[in-house]
Amino acid sequence: MCGIVGFVGKDKQLDKEKKSLSVLIDGLRQLQYRGYDSAGVAFFEDNIVKVYKEIGIESINLLEQNVISKVSSNLGVGHTRWATHGEASIDNCHPHQVGKITLVHNGIIENYSELKQELIHLDYSFKSETDTEVGAALIDYLYHQTNDMNKTLLEFMKRVKGAYALGIINSDDPKKLFAIRNENPLIIGITNEGRNYIASDIIALTSYTNHYIEMKNESFAVIKDNNVSIYNKSGLLVDNEIKIYDMGNTEISKNGESTFTLKEIKEQSCVFRKSVEKYQKSGTLKSLPSLAKYKKIKIVACGSAYHAGLIGKYLIEKFAEIPVDVEIASEYRYNKILDVNRKTLVIGISQSGETADTIKALEHAKESDLDTLGIINAAGSSMERIVDYILNTCAGREIGVATTKAYSAQITELAFMALDLGKKLKHIEKEEYQNILEELKTLPIKIDQILNTRDQYLEIAKIIMNKNDVFYLGRGIDYALAMEGSLKLKELSYIHSEAYTAGELKHGTISLIEKDTPVLAIITDPNLASKTISNCKEVMARGANVIPVITDSISNLEFKNNSIVIPTVHPLLQPILTVIPLQLIAYEAAVLRDCNVDKPKNLAKSVTVE
Ligand code: AGP
Repeated sequence: MCGIVGFVGKDKQLDKEKKSLSVLIDGLRQLQYRGYDSAGVAFFEDNIVKVYKEIGIESINLLEQNVISKVSSNLGVGHTRWATHGEASIDNCHPHQVGKITLVHNGIIENYSELKQELIHLDYSFKSETDTEVGAALIDYLYHQTNDMNKTLLEFMKRVKGAYALGIINSDDPKKLFAIRNENPLIIGITNEGRNYIASDIIALTSYTNHYIEMKNESFAVIKDNNVSIYNKSGLLVDNEIKIYDMGNTEISKNGESTFTLKEIKEQSCVFRKSVEKYQKSGTLKSLPSLAKYKKIKIVACGSAYHAGLIGKYLIEKFAEIPVDVEIASEYRYNKILDVNRKTLVIGISQSGETADTIKALEHAKESDLDTLGIINAAGSSMERIVDYILNTCAGREIGVATTKAYSAQITELAFMALDLGKKLKHIEKEEYQNILEELKTLPIKIDQILNTRDQYLEIAKIIMNKNDVFYLGRGIDYALAMEGSLKLKELSYIHSEAYTAGELKHGTISLIEKDTPVLAIITDPNLASKTISNCKEVMARGANVIPVITDSISNLEFKNNSIVIPTVHPLLQPILTVIPLQLIAYEAAVLRDCNVDKPKNLAKSVTVE
């Protein structure tokens, strides 16, 4: 996901210290969590709009060294790019400049090809492969037709299809910064000190202001040093609430750990405690009383959130006996919806609340008049404004791109949902319910026990670090965990991996098993353990090195060594423990392979493109 930051207005103090552009670098650094492969800035200097770009993970530092600390300006924009159209190259990097227009963009202009053809016929030429450059050319063309930026931006919104947030400089207007928002988030940072800002996320501006306006969809803004005017798609001025960002939210320290990812893996016992406190104050059904009326649940999500949804399916079906379907969000949104009654609840799970595929899937459900619930971690996200009900997770800001604590918080909320629905629908007896509540108190200690035995995960990481393929096996809920373990290994260490249902491997893929092929077998369900162990023997007979992740109530005598034994807890809570060794194995392997653990290559923290 790309990051945008911009400012307009003079700050005499900053000018004196040659720091008037520092917000561009500080802001882009705060947006690094979104993932990027290049960065650029543009600003007025001596009445000319200058553009500087760098590629690679050091691009922000290079901009600071080569440009930012050397000039003063009263208007500028900055951008971190996560490539969607075209590789990470200087030509494709933002800001893009066409004629009088220089802009930065987050999102996708879906009809850019046809617009590009039209503009080529109007004698525009293009250096890059990007949709963004087409956007800049279109605005430049429309401005030449109208000589009025308001009319230009209104017409732009009519002509362009897609999700986008834009920060725009017009060389004719050195005192105005323009912004457009449609779907992708964009905020306006407000001060009464003769300077205003724009950013993709308020976190980019917290060193400069915590007062901000959240631009609404299909709106554009004309921002001056002491005035902000925001217009809707009809060109009418609209009022906007000025919000105050809680500065305490900026949990961006590593707590002394070497990486955010490790800090966040270790935070999971604390996150669980917060989830339990929230649950005890306003249990799921107390906060969402109408939940119990639904006869079917459809979960839509992507990546790790999808894997969390699978955990939810097993738990809700087992303990509440409500049928649950889990679909990849980008698939669901094109499927015909047959649940035409209002008895189906569609749940979108998303850490960021900005994932385009999940947002579109929820909108698809709403078009069929289905009720929607968002299980969301990031407060104030776009998804919150779409769903009928919100269930916030308690993970706090997650900086590591490969999710860990946010995933755990998702499966915790789903476990509480299954618990409350099971109790309400009388599938969980009072005594069992009380036992589970008791177990909630001891779980954080067990989480910490697992976290404190890191050496064994390092040993396993050494075994797998140079392998070409690693397999994860499981049955039932253990298969959902195998999927998350496999994804973590791929994301963090770039080792190819595949999760397979233990019973299915022998129907073909077993052909890939060779001597010493690592196979992590997730074995926590006592009802399925013997079957999974049989499947493990099948691959061991072909030379595989099976490493079980197994509960202490199931015998691991069948396995040589390297067993990861975890405490047995109530099945409703078991996944919360089981996932931690899988996260740590992936983490240790990534460190051994000298990977960029917090910002894995090619990944973005929130994928706001489809
Ligand atoms: C997280 O480890 C993954 N990088 C990714 O699959 C992520 O879970 C997915 O993109 C969904 O993100 P969301 O939870 O913010 O919607």
